[in-house]
Amino acid sequence: MSGALSDPMNDPMSASNEALVQGVQERFQAFAEPFLLEPGDSFAYCLKIEHTAKVRALAEDIATASGVSGRVHLAARIAAVLHDVGRFPQYKEFRTFRDAESANHAALSVRHALREDMLAEVPADIRRLVLGAVFLHNVRQLPATLPPDLQSVARILRDSDKLDIYSVMIRHFAQADPAHPEVALHVKLHPTAYSPEVLTALARGETGDYRHIVWVNDFKLMVAGWFYDLNFRRSCQLLSERGYLTTLFDSLPADPPLLSFRQKILADLARRLTAGV
Ligand SMILES: [Fe+2]
Repeated sequence: MSGALSDPMNDPMSASNEALVQGVQERFQAFAEPFLLEPGDSFAYCLKIEHTAKVRALAEDIATASGVSGRVHLAARIAAVLHDVGRFPQYKEFRTFRDAESANHAALSVRHALREDMLAEVPADIRRLVLGAVFLHNVRQLPATLPPDLQSVARILRDSDKLDIYSVMIRHFAQADPAHPEVALHVKLHPTAYSPEVLTALARGETGDYRHIVWVNDFKLMVAGWFYDLNFRRSCQLLSERGYLTTLFDSLPADPPLLSFRQKILADLARRLTAGV
């Protein structure tokens, strides 16, 4: 057997890689679970623990389906486990998930992962990929030039994160009067209001900006527009199979500009799935 083939990094799901991911998972749990005992409601912490587990599963799915290298596959799974570590201290201190009003939670994730030595057993080259991807997971756009492996890990993490947030938001918006407004960053509830400038920007293919979000419908539109940021065909397949866009648009007013945005985005999704890229 050649050296390359016997390298455990070439088998993404090798027992040694599995043990590394599991070790980081245990450190994450040891960090996160004590927050559940904080005074007050533990809903926000439970939400982030569940989100982390789902993002990890999605990252594994996308990485496997996309045939990435063993290094990228391993780093993506570990980055998924650690990407929202910063949400716990952020919520404890500020009682919000709005970074603009509190702290950059991705930077907090890196800081706490390092402080708690959560990557102690992880090889240095994988550790660098993990920390880079965690730090970049919430930027509006990835820098144009990144080392190829880091770019792949960051892209897998960002797609996985967005896909789970679709389901979190759909569950949240299904409530008439959401009990936990922090989930959707405290947007204003109104059945039909939306900001035309948010729709115009999204229809031009621009990434939604949290700062322009006022109404609940702005938030739904921004989340729908995340489709244009998905990097992998597998991510688009998951988006389509789970019907997230249709569910979101069904909950928006039947206003002509919104209906034409719906048509455009669903046509673009269908085109991307047919094109196979
Ligand atoms: Fe995050």
